[in-house]
Amino acid sequence: MTEAAAGGEALETTSAEDLTASVLASFSGTPDERLRFVLEQLVGHLHAFVVETGLSEAEWAAGIDFLTRAGQACTDRRQELILLSDTLGVSMLVDLLGHVAPPGASESTVLGPFYVSGAPVLEMGASTAIGDGYGDPARVSGRILDPDGEPVDGAWLDVWQNACNGQYAVQDPEQPGENLRGRFRTGPDGRFAFWAVRPTDYAIPDDGPVGAMLAATGRHPWRPAHLHCIVSAPGFRTLTTHLFDDESPYLASDAVFAVKASLVCHFERHETGTPGGPAGHDGPWYSLERDLVLAPLGG
Ligand code: BEZ
Ligand code: FE
Repeated sequence: MTEAAAGGEALETTSAEDLTASVLASFSGTPDERLRFVLEQLVGHLHAFVVETGLSEAEWAAGIDFLTRAGQACTDRRQELILLSDTLGVSMLVDLLGHVAPPGASESTVLGPFYVSGAPVLEMGASTAIGDGYGDPARVSGRILDPDGEPVDGAWLDVWQNACNGQYAVQDPEQPGENLRGRFRTGPDGRFAFWAVRPTDYAIPDDGPVGAMLAATGRHPWRPAHLHCIVSAPGFRTLTTHLFDDESPYLASDAVFAVKASLVCHFERHETGTPGGPAGHDGPWYSLERDLVLAPLGG
C-alpha cells in the first residue's frame, strides 16, 4: 500500500517509545471505549515488560512456544490456559477485585476447572458419594443465611470435590460421572445437610506446560484439601467458594493462591462406632458444621 493509499504520513519508529506510541495510536479509533482502554493497557504493560526485562529473541520465542503448547494441551476436559492463570495468581486476583464480600458475607474464591454443571439434585441428608472407597465419610451441615442472620429459603447449594485418589469424577474414568457432586435446595429454615467425604489434598494437573513451569521454578503442584460450593438464591449474589480443611499442610502454599483465612474449617473426627455415622459404615467419620452467608444483590 502506498503512503497516499494508507491515508497518512508514515510514522518513524526509531525508538522503543515511538514504537509503543505507534501501536497505542493504532487503537485510537476503537469504538468500544472499554475495549480500547483494555488493549491500550495491555500493550503498554507488555511493551514495558519487554523493555524492562531486556527480553531476547530466544526468550520471546520460548514464550511463544510455551503459550502454543499450553493452547494445544487444552481439550474439552482440560484447560491449560486457565491453569496457567491460576498458577500465576491471575484468577485469584480477578476474584479478589471482583468479589469484595460486604460485612458478614462469606468470602469467595476461584471456581477451578473441575466444575461440571447439572449435578444430581439430592435430598437433604443424602450422600454425594456413589459407593465406598472415595474417602472417610464427612457430614457437612449448616445454614444459608443473609447478612442479618435470617435463613434463605429456596437457595441452591451446588457441591463438588475430589476423591481420596486426588481425582475429580470429570478427570477419572474409574469414577461414576456424578460421583461426589450434588445440588441441594434449602427450605424456609435455610438448613442444609449432606454426606460427602473428608477432602484430601491433591495435585493440579502437572504433566503439561504448566507443570513444567512449576518444576522449573521449584514450585509444588499441591492444593490444600477442600470442598467446592456454589450457592445461589434469588435476590442474592451467587457465591463461589471452597471450604478448606484446617489440617492440610498446603494451606500456606496453595498452588493457585486461593486460600482465604475465613474459608478454613475444622472437620471433627468421630471414632469408629460413634453414633450418628453413616448406616453400615465401619470406621471413623467426620463432621463439619458451617453457615454460608450470601450478600444481597446490589449490596
Ligand atoms: C480446583 O480446586 O479444583 C482447582 C482450582 C484451580 C486449579 C486447579 C484446580
Ligand atoms: Fe478443587
